[in-house]
Amino acid sequence: MCGIVGYVGHRNALDVVMGGLRRLEYRGYDSGGVALPDPSTGRIAWAKKAGKLANLDGVLAETTMPETTTGIGHTRWATHGAPNDRNAHPHLSEDGRLAVVHNGIIENFAVLRAELEAAGHELLSETDTEVVVHLLSDELQRTPALDDAVRAVCQRLEGAFTLVFTDARQPDVVVGARRNSPLVVGRGDGENFLGSDVSAFIEFTREAVELGQDQVVAITRDSMTVTDFDGAPAETTSYHVDWDVSAAEKGGYDWFMLKEIDEQPQAVAETLLGRYGRSGRLQLDEMRLSDDELRDVDKIIIIACGTASYAGLVAKYAIEHWTRIPCEVELASEFRYRDPIIDRSTLVVAISQSGETMDTLMAIRYARQQRARVLSICNTNGSTIPRESDAVIYTHAGPEVAVASTKGFLSQIVACYLLGLYLAQVRGVKYGDEIDAIMAALEKLPAGIQRMLDEGEQVRKLAAELVDTRSVLFLGRHVGYPVALEGALKLKELAYLHAEGFAAGELKHGPIALIEDGIPVFVVVPPKARDQLQEKIVSNIQEIRARGALTIVLAEDGDDDVVPYADHLIRLPKVPTLLQPLVATVPLQIFACELAGLLGHDVDQPRNLAKSVTVE
Ligand code: F6R
Repeated sequence: MCGIVGYVGHRNALDVVMGGLRRLEYRGYDSGGVALPDPSTGRIAWAKKAGKLANLDGVLAETTMPETTTGIGHTRWATHGAPNDRNAHPHLSEDGRLAVVHNGIIENFAVLRAELEAAGHELLSETDTEVVVHLLSDELQRTPALDDAVRAVCQRLEGAFTLVFTDARQPDVVVGARRNSPLVVGRGDGENFLGSDVSAFIEFTREAVELGQDQVVAITRDSMTVTDFDGAPAETTSYHVDWDVSAAEKGGYDWFMLKEIDEQPQAVAETLLGRYGRSGRLQLDEMRLSDDELRDVDKIIIIACGTASYAGLVAKYAIEHWTRIPCEVELASEFRYRDPIIDRSTLVVAISQSGETMDTLMAIRYARQQRARVLSICNTNGSTIPRESDAVIYTHAGPEVAVASTKGFLSQIVACYLLGLYLAQVRGVKYGDEIDAIMAALEKLPAGIQRMLDEGEQVRKLAAELVDTRSVLFLGRHVGYPVALEGALKLKELAYLHAEGFAAGELKHGPIALIEDGIPVFVVVPPKARDQLQEKIVSNIQEIRARGALTIVLAEDGDDDVVPYADHLIRLPKVPTLLQPLVATVPLQIFACELAGLLGHDVDQPRNLAKSVTVE
């Protein structure tokens, strides 16, 4: 939430910063702003505007900005203060010398604000951020170097923050600080960058540096200095980004989401790549937990938010079935507030595409305090959640830019399956040939997903037919149940429709009252091999159809039992039961994306949302 860019180098800073903000806009689009230190005036030149970056472009077209090679920028997801021009970042000191941009929440801002106002400062916005620039202004009277002054200010702040500062009297340096919110450094040749994530600078460099918790970084053209908040030198980790700028661009698609839906066969293949060799054994490169530690595990708790939690729900069925270890799935935001029973034998699995979701981060910290071992499943190299975990399985799905997760979801399920099979292998509860058979089925999945993409036209036509609908239901059983939840979530967040997913068995316990004439109901039918479940859901379809529902049935090739009761039939390739979510989700993603587009919504940046929810 909120995207931040900082630059010191030899290029036009405004161009670099605006380019970075465009690639970070998915993190928040309530307002945008830039600040350039102008040594000729000793003041900051700035521009900011509520709304998407296009509005800021409009302002910049009317404004003469200085040609500088240092600058910072911000794209906002509002927390404190309405999303208007006044609350947009950057925020400036009264003398116009300093500017700050911020991602996170300064929890003690009210106390600090009262203190600053009592000392005669005039605060212009309703944000928590603005206090920081006034504190820095006062601190610079005592502590002249920008990085020293920033360290002193950070000592006074509570909450979560990434802060980036520029000073018109020290224009050769940009200083950043982070606690609980993301900030990475990009190392270039005669230039350095700061960004909320690497997409901010991927156009210029793929060499990145992870910053740790409670660290301050000062960048100049040729140097990077990282310390803790007390000024002691801090260790950092450098890494090479394994994707390039084309992956972070639309590549001819109207929406990032369409591109990311289409990338799913590749994303799943990448998650599997190199993990199951000719040796017939699974190898997970960053599985830093020993076989003994994994044999010790007597309970698994999966924690995640939103779509990632639905990946966890799917995984629960497979992990319990393969390993016989009890597995719970819990929303990260609930987990640490309910006094869960965990100990050293509990394996907590955190699933997060971004690796920055605050609820999930706080939950893993809590789990580790309780001595549980934490393994994360993550798509973003260098992000906070994997860094704070005992082990990690990266999904390698490539950058996910659209706010609504698609390839992230599928690759998370695959990574969870790799974990389940790895546990089964280590604990000896599955024979090698059993693991081999499941891996062989997983390896065929990209082709099955590709087929769902190739047959997407049927779903797009359906979306056009249903463009006036106001309510859609989704039913599933077993692993089809989380698929139903995911289908409903996609529709809510993209098309702003009432949509609900149910376990089909629950229908008669309440939700069937929602069925009325013409209401569209998607039903995910388990493979026929699960005869009991398949038969039961066919009865459910008859029940809702008899009450007037328009049934849209997703069933595998050759399942003819459903044909008489399906108003629309979407065929799925025959895959093992546990793998069905990986093909059945795809038409639901296409449906939501298409319907949102037809309704004129911004598919990549739905209202009120942001990717990377870095506040609790
Ligand atoms: C929905 C969606 C969200 C995320 C959730 C967790 O389409 O994208 O529900 O899944 O905010 O995000 P990560 O996986 O980054 O922790």
